[in-house]
Amino acid sequence: MSTSPSTPAPESTSAAGTAASPATATPSATADATEAVVARGVERIFAGAKGAEVTALTGIELTVRAGEFVSLIGPSGCGKSTLLRLIADLDEPTAGVIRVFGKTARQARIDQAYGIAFQQAGLLPWRSVAANVELPLQLHGIGSAQRRTRVAELLELVGLSDFAGHYPDQLSGGMQQRVAIARSLAEQPRLLLMDEPFGALDEMTRERMQTELLRIRAETGAAVVFVTHSIPEAVYLSDRVVVMSPRPGRITDEVDVRLGDAADRGEDLREDAAFFAGVTAVREALHGHEAAPATGSARGVDVR
Ligand SMILES: Nc1ncnc2c1ncn2[C@@H]1O[C@H](COP(=O)(O)OP(=O)(O)OP(=O)(O)O)[C@@H](O)[C@H]1O
Ligand SMILES: [Mg+2]
Repeated sequence: MSTSPSTPAPESTSAAGTAASPATATPSATADATEAVVARGVERIFAGAKGAEVTALTGIELTVRAGEFVSLIGPSGCGKSTLLRLIADLDEPTAGVIRVFGKTARQARIDQAYGIAFQQAGLLPWRSVAANVELPLQLHGIGSAQRRTRVAELLELVGLSDFAGHYPDQLSGGMQQRVAIARSLAEQPRLLLMDEPFGALDEMTRERMQTELLRIRAETGAAVVFVTHSIPEAVYLSDRVVVMSPRPGRITDEVDVRLGDAADRGEDLREDAAFFAGVTAVREALHGHEAAPATGSARGVDVR
Protein backbone atom coordinates (compact mmCIF):
# COMPACT_ATOMS: atom_id res chain seq x y z
CA MET A 1 0.00 0.00 0.00
CA SER A 2 1.27 3.45 -0.66
CA THR A 3 -0.10 6.41 1.15
CA SER A 4 0.18 10.08 0.44
CA PRO A 5 -1.37 11.91 3.35
CA SER A 6 0.68 15.06 3.11
CA THR A 7 2.74 14.70 -0.02
CA PRO A 8 0.61 13.35 -2.81
CA ALA A 9 2.29 10.94 -5.17
CA PRO A 10 3.59 12.56 -8.36
CA GLU A 11 0.66 11.40 -10.42
CA SER A 12 -1.79 13.00 -8.01
CA THR A 13 -0.32 16.44 -7.59
CA SER A 14 -3.39 17.94 -9.19
CA ALA A 15 -5.40 16.02 -6.61
CA ALA A 16 -6.88 14.08 -9.47
CA GLY A 17 -4.23 11.94 -11.12
CA THR A 18 -4.28 13.95 -14.32
CA ALA A 19 -0.69 13.20 -15.23
CA ALA A 20 -1.57 9.54 -15.47
CA SER A 21 -4.25 10.36 -18.00
CA PRO A 22 -3.02 12.88 -20.55
CA ALA A 23 -6.20 12.70 -22.60
CA THR A 24 -8.12 14.47 -19.87
CA ALA A 25 -6.20 17.69 -19.50
CA THR A 26 -8.94 19.37 -21.47
CA PRO A 27 -12.14 17.38 -21.47
CA SER A 28 -13.63 17.14 -24.88
CA ALA A 29 -15.85 14.90 -26.91
CA THR A 30 -12.75 12.75 -27.43
CA ALA A 31 -12.14 12.31 -23.70
CA ASP A 32 -11.00 8.78 -23.04
CA ALA A 33 -14.04 6.66 -22.33
CA THR A 34 -11.90 4.36 -20.18
CA GLU A 35 -12.23 7.08 -17.57
CA ALA A 36 -15.46 6.70 -15.68
CA VAL A 37 -15.56 10.27 -14.36
CA VAL A 38 -13.59 13.37 -15.23
CA ALA A 39 -14.23 16.68 -13.44
CA ARG A 40 -12.24 19.73 -14.43
CA GLY A 41 -12.44 23.10 -12.70
CA VAL A 42 -15.83 22.27 -11.28
CA GLU A 43 -17.51 24.91 -9.16
CA ARG A 44 -21.00 25.06 -7.68
CA ILE A 45 -22.26 28.24 -6.11
CA PHE A 46 -25.73 28.23 -4.60
CA ALA A 47 -27.72 31.41 -4.35
CA GLY A 48 -28.71 31.79 -0.73
CA ALA A 49 -31.26 33.96 1.03
CA LYS A 50 -31.08 37.75 0.45
CA GLY A 51 -28.47 37.45 -2.28
CA ALA A 52 -25.97 35.60 -0.08
CA GLU A 53 -24.05 32.94 -1.96
CA VAL A 54 -22.73 29.58 -0.79
CA THR A 55 -19.71 28.26 -2.64
CA ALA A 56 -20.35 24.55 -2.17
CA LEU A 57 -17.51 23.46 -4.47
CA THR A 58 -14.59 25.17 -6.13
CA GLY A 59 -11.72 24.08 -8.36
CA ILE A 60 -12.65 20.41 -8.29
CA GLU A 61 -10.28 18.25 -10.33
CA LEU A 62 -11.13 14.58 -10.17
CA THR A 63 -10.51 11.60 -12.37
CA VAL A 64 -12.01 8.21 -11.59
CA ARG A 65 -10.70 5.52 -13.88
CA ALA A 66 -12.92 2.72 -15.18
CA GLY A 67 -13.13 0.05 -12.50
CA GLU A 68 -11.60 2.26 -9.82
CA PHE A 69 -13.16 2.63 -6.35
CA VAL A 70 -12.84 6.19 -5.07
CA SER A 71 -14.26 7.42 -1.75
CA LEU A 72 -15.01 11.05 -0.96
CA ILE A 73 -14.58 11.94 2.69
CA GLY A 74 -14.77 15.25 4.51
CA PRO A 75 -16.71 17.15 7.16
CA SER A 76 -20.45 17.68 6.90
CA GLY A 77 -21.30 20.40 4.39
CA CYS A 78 -18.06 20.15 2.38
CA GLY A 79 -19.91 19.41 -0.84
CA LYS A 80 -19.67 15.64 -1.20
CA SER A 81 -23.34 15.15 -2.07
CA THR A 82 -23.23 18.20 -4.32
CA LEU A 83 -20.33 16.69 -6.28
CA LEU A 84 -22.12 13.37 -6.64
CA ARG A 85 -25.29 15.13 -7.77
CA LEU A 86 -23.32 17.01 -10.42
CA ILE A 87 -21.82 13.77 -11.72
CA ALA A 88 -25.31 12.24 -11.81
CA ASP A 89 -26.66 15.32 -13.66
CA LEU A 90 -29.15 15.99 -10.88
CA ASP A 91 -27.64 19.48 -10.71
CA GLU A 92 -25.37 21.60 -12.91
CA PRO A 93 -22.00 23.17 -12.12
CA THR A 94 -21.73 26.96 -12.21
CA ALA A 95 -18.31 26.49 -13.83
CA GLY A 96 -16.21 23.63 -15.13
CA VAL A 97 -16.82 20.42 -17.01
CA ILE A 98 -17.90 16.92 -16.08
CA ARG A 99 -17.61 13.86 -18.29
CA VAL A 100 -18.88 10.37 -17.58
CA PHE A 101 -17.32 7.72 -19.81
CA GLY A 102 -16.37 10.52 -22.18
CA LYS A 103 -19.97 11.79 -22.41
CA THR A 104 -21.55 14.84 -20.90
CA ALA A 105 -23.20 14.15 -17.55
CA ARG A 106 -26.57 14.69 -19.24
CA GLN A 107 -25.91 12.18 -22.00
CA ALA A 108 -24.59 9.64 -19.48
CA ARG A 109 -27.81 10.02 -17.49
CA ILE A 110 -29.94 9.57 -20.59
CA ASP A 111 -27.90 6.46 -21.47
CA GLN A 112 -28.22 5.24 -17.87
CA ALA A 113 -24.46 4.79 -17.67
CA TYR A 114 -24.56 4.51 -13.88
CA GLY A 115 -26.57 3.34 -10.91
CA ILE A 116 -27.20 5.61 -7.95
CA ALA A 117 -27.86 5.01 -4.26
CA PHE A 118 -28.11 8.22 -2.28
CA GLN A 119 -28.42 9.39 1.32
CA GLN A 120 -32.20 9.20 1.15
CA ALA A 121 -33.33 5.89 -0.23
CA GLY A 122 -35.63 7.63 -2.74
CA LEU A 123 -38.02 4.71 -3.14
CA LEU A 124 -41.42 5.04 -4.73
CA PRO A 125 -43.88 4.54 -1.84
CA TRP A 126 -46.64 3.12 -4.02
CA ARG A 127 -44.45 0.36 -5.40
CA SER A 128 -43.57 -2.79 -3.50
CA VAL A 129 -39.95 -3.62 -2.67
CA ALA A 130 -39.71 -5.93 -5.68
CA ALA A 131 -41.36 -3.35 -7.96
CA ASN A 132 -38.91 -0.66 -6.81
CA VAL A 133 -35.90 -2.87 -7.55
CA GLU A 134 -37.45 -3.87 -10.86
CA LEU A 135 -38.06 -0.31 -12.04
CA PRO A 136 -34.82 0.33 -13.99
CA LEU A 137 -35.20 -3.04 -15.73
CA GLN A 138 -38.79 -2.25 -16.62
CA LEU A 139 -37.83 1.15 -17.99
CA HIS A 140 -35.35 -0.59 -20.24
CA GLY A 141 -37.88 -3.06 -21.57
CA ILE A 142 -36.41 -6.20 -19.98
CA GLY A 143 -38.92 -9.08 -20.19
CA SER A 144 -40.92 -9.98 -17.10
CA ALA A 145 -39.43 -13.46 -16.60
CA GLN A 146 -35.89 -12.08 -16.73
CA ARG A 147 -36.90 -9.23 -14.41
CA ARG A 148 -38.30 -11.64 -11.85
CA THR A 149 -35.10 -13.70 -11.79
CA ARG A 150 -32.90 -10.64 -11.46
CA VAL A 151 -35.05 -9.07 -8.73
CA ALA A 152 -34.93 -12.33 -6.76
CA GLU A 153 -31.12 -12.38 -7.06
CA LEU A 154 -30.81 -8.78 -5.94
CA LEU A 155 -33.16 -9.15 -2.97
CA GLU A 156 -31.23 -12.23 -1.90
CA LEU A 157 -28.03 -10.20 -2.14
CA VAL A 158 -29.29 -7.48 0.20
CA GLY A 159 -31.05 -9.95 2.51
CA LEU A 160 -34.61 -8.85 1.74
CA SER A 161 -36.05 -11.88 -0.03
CA ASP A 162 -38.81 -12.14 2.57
CA PHE A 163 -39.88 -8.54 2.02
CA ALA A 164 -40.44 -8.51 -1.74
CA GLY A 165 -44.15 -7.75 -1.34
CA HIS A 166 -43.77 -5.13 1.39
CA TYR A 167 -44.00 -1.39 0.78
CA PRO A 168 -41.25 1.09 1.69
CA ASP A 169 -43.14 2.58 4.67
CA GLN A 170 -43.30 -0.92 6.18
CA LEU A 171 -39.51 -1.12 6.30
CA SER A 172 -36.85 0.31 8.61
CA GLY A 173 -34.53 3.03 7.28
CA GLY A 174 -31.70 0.52 6.83
CA MET A 175 -33.96 -1.87 4.94
CA GLN A 176 -35.12 0.95 2.64
CA GLN A 177 -31.49 1.78 2.00
CA ARG A 178 -30.80 -1.84 1.06
CA VAL A 179 -33.70 -1.75 -1.42
CA ALA A 180 -32.13 1.35 -2.98
CA ILE A 181 -28.78 -0.43 -3.21
CA ALA A 182 -30.40 -3.44 -4.89
CA ARG A 183 -32.10 -1.09 -7.36
CA SER A 184 -28.81 0.68 -8.14
CA LEU A 185 -27.25 -2.68 -9.01
CA ALA A 186 -30.15 -3.91 -11.12
CA GLU A 187 -28.53 -3.16 -14.46
CA GLN A 188 -24.96 -4.01 -13.48
CA PRO A 189 -23.80 -0.49 -14.23
CA ARG A 190 -20.19 0.35 -15.09
CA LEU A 191 -20.36 3.20 -12.59
CA LEU A 192 -22.01 3.34 -9.19
CA LEU A 193 -22.58 6.66 -7.45
CA MET A 194 -23.20 6.03 -3.76
CA ASP A 195 -23.85 8.70 -1.15
CA GLU A 196 -23.51 7.26 2.36
CA PRO A 197 -25.45 4.20 1.27
CA PHE A 198 -24.63 2.30 4.47
CA GLY A 199 -25.11 5.21 6.87
CA ALA A 200 -28.43 3.92 8.22
CA LEU A 201 -27.31 0.32 8.67
CA ASP A 202 -26.31 -1.40 11.89
CA GLU A 203 -22.63 -2.23 12.18
CA MET A 204 -22.93 -5.92 11.28
CA THR A 205 -25.13 -5.35 8.26
CA ARG A 206 -22.89 -2.51 7.23
CA GLU A 207 -19.78 -4.70 7.25
CA ARG A 208 -21.61 -7.41 5.33
CA MET A 209 -22.78 -4.89 2.73
CA GLN A 210 -19.25 -3.53 2.41
CA THR A 211 -17.92 -7.01 1.67
CA GLU A 212 -20.80 -7.59 -0.76
CA LEU A 213 -20.07 -4.31 -2.51
CA LEU A 214 -16.43 -5.35 -2.97
CA ARG A 215 -17.56 -8.68 -4.38
CA ILE A 216 -20.04 -7.03 -6.74
CA ARG A 217 -17.44 -4.55 -7.82
CA ALA A 218 -14.90 -7.34 -8.47
CA GLU A 219 -17.50 -9.29 -10.46
CA THR A 220 -18.77 -6.39 -12.53
CA GLY A 221 -15.60 -4.29 -12.79
CA ALA A 222 -17.74 -1.24 -12.00
CA ALA A 223 -16.13 2.02 -10.99
CA VAL A 224 -17.54 3.41 -7.75
CA VAL A 225 -17.67 6.94 -6.36
CA PHE A 226 -18.57 6.45 -2.72
CA VAL A 227 -19.33 9.15 -0.17
CA THR A 228 -18.86 8.23 3.47
CA HIS A 229 -18.21 9.74 6.90
CA SER A 230 -16.42 6.64 8.08
CA ILE A 231 -12.65 6.52 7.66
CA PRO A 232 -12.40 2.72 8.14
CA GLU A 233 -15.19 2.20 5.61
CA ALA A 234 -13.41 4.38 3.06
CA VAL A 235 -10.10 2.57 3.61
CA TYR A 236 -11.62 -0.91 3.52
CA LEU A 237 -13.44 -0.28 0.26
CA SER A 238 -11.31 2.10 -1.77
CA ASP A 239 -8.42 2.21 -4.16
CA ARG A 240 -8.17 5.92 -3.43
CA VAL A 241 -9.64 8.16 -0.73
CA VAL A 242 -10.23 11.77 -1.76
CA VAL A 243 -10.24 14.19 1.16
CA MET A 244 -12.33 17.36 1.00
CA SER A 245 -12.43 20.51 3.11
CA PRO A 246 -15.46 22.71 3.73
CA ARG A 247 -16.31 26.26 2.67
CA PRO A 248 -15.50 26.42 -0.06
CA GLY A 249 -15.56 22.68 -0.75
CA ARG A 250 -12.24 21.67 -2.26
CA ILE A 251 -10.23 18.50 -2.72
CA THR A 252 -7.31 18.94 -0.36
CA ASP A 253 -5.63 15.57 -0.39
CA GLU A 254 -5.69 12.02 -1.61
CA VAL A 255 -4.62 8.77 -0.04
CA ASP A 256 -3.78 5.86 -2.26
CA VAL A 257 -5.05 2.78 -0.44
CA ARG A 258 -4.06 -0.37 -2.20
CA LEU A 259 -4.98 -3.23 0.04
CA GLY A 260 -5.05 -5.72 -2.81
CA ASP A 261 -7.70 -6.92 -5.21
CA ALA A 262 -11.24 -6.23 -4.14
CA ALA A 263 -12.00 -9.91 -4.68
CA ASP A 264 -9.35 -10.92 -2.13
CA ARG A 265 -10.38 -8.50 0.59
CA GLY A 266 -11.76 -10.63 3.35
CA GLU A 267 -12.97 -9.75 6.81
CA ASP A 268 -9.47 -10.41 8.22
CA LEU A 269 -8.24 -7.38 6.34
CA ARG A 270 -9.99 -5.23 8.95
CA GLU A 271 -7.37 -6.42 11.44
CA ASP A 272 -4.44 -6.01 9.09
CA ALA A 273 -1.56 -3.58 9.73
CA ALA A 274 -1.92 -2.16 6.20
CA PHE A 275 -5.56 -1.36 6.93
CA PHE A 276 -4.68 0.53 10.13
CA ALA A 277 -1.92 2.39 8.28
CA GLY A 278 -4.53 3.48 5.72
CA VAL A 279 -6.88 4.64 8.46
CA THR A 280 -4.09 6.68 10.04
CA ALA A 281 -3.11 8.21 6.70
CA VAL A 282 -6.68 9.31 5.95
CA ARG A 283 -7.19 10.63 9.47
CA GLU A 284 -4.00 12.69 9.22
CA ALA A 285 -5.03 14.00 5.80
CA LEU A 286 -8.35 15.11 7.28
CA HIS A 287 -6.88 16.68 10.39
CA GLY A 288 -4.18 18.40 8.41
CA HIS A 289 -6.93 20.58 7.02
CA GLU A 290 -8.64 21.43 10.25
CA ALA A 291 -8.54 25.20 10.24
CA ALA A 292 -8.49 26.08 13.93
CA PRO A 293 -7.30 23.81 16.74
CA ALA A 294 -10.36 24.91 18.73
CA THR A 295 -12.62 22.99 16.34
CA GLY A 296 -11.13 19.71 17.58
CA SER A 297 -11.63 16.67 15.42
CA ALA A 298 -13.06 16.72 11.92
CA ARG A 299 -16.74 17.35 12.51
CA GLY A 300 -19.03 14.91 10.83
CA VAL A 301 -16.26 12.43 10.17
CA ASP A 302 -16.52 9.15 11.93
CA VAL A 303 -13.37 7.34 13.01
CA ARG A 304 -15.23 4.19 14.00
N1 LIG B 1 -29.93 23.11 -3.14
C1 LIG B 1 -29.12 23.84 -2.35
N2 LIG B 1 -29.35 25.17 -2.16
C2 LIG B 1 -28.53 25.92 -1.41
N3 LIG B 1 -27.44 25.44 -0.78
C3 LIG B 1 -27.16 24.12 -0.93
C4 LIG B 1 -27.98 23.26 -1.71
N4 LIG B 1 -27.44 22.00 -1.68
C5 LIG B 1 -26.36 22.11 -0.90
N5 LIG B 1 -26.17 23.37 -0.46
C6 LIG B 1 -25.07 23.84 0.39
O1 LIG B 1 -23.85 23.37 -0.16
C7 LIG B 1 -22.97 22.94 0.86
C8 LIG B 1 -22.57 21.50 0.61
O2 LIG B 1 -23.69 20.65 0.82
P1 LIG B 1 -23.61 19.08 0.59
O3 LIG B 1 -24.97 18.53 0.82
O4 LIG B 1 -22.97 18.80 -0.72
O5 LIG B 1 -22.62 18.64 1.77
P2 LIG B 1 -22.12 17.20 2.20
O6 LIG B 1 -20.64 17.20 2.15
O7 LIG B 1 -22.81 16.15 1.40
O8 LIG B 1 -22.59 17.13 3.72
P3 LIG B 1 -23.10 15.87 4.59
O9 LIG B 1 -21.85 15.12 4.94
O10 LIG B 1 -23.71 16.51 5.79
O11 LIG B 1 -24.07 15.08 3.79
C9 LIG B 1 -23.69 23.18 2.18
O12 LIG B 1 -23.24 24.41 2.71
C10 LIG B 1 -25.15 23.26 1.79
O13 LIG B 1 -25.84 24.12 2.64
MG1 LIG C 1 -24.19 14.66 1.88
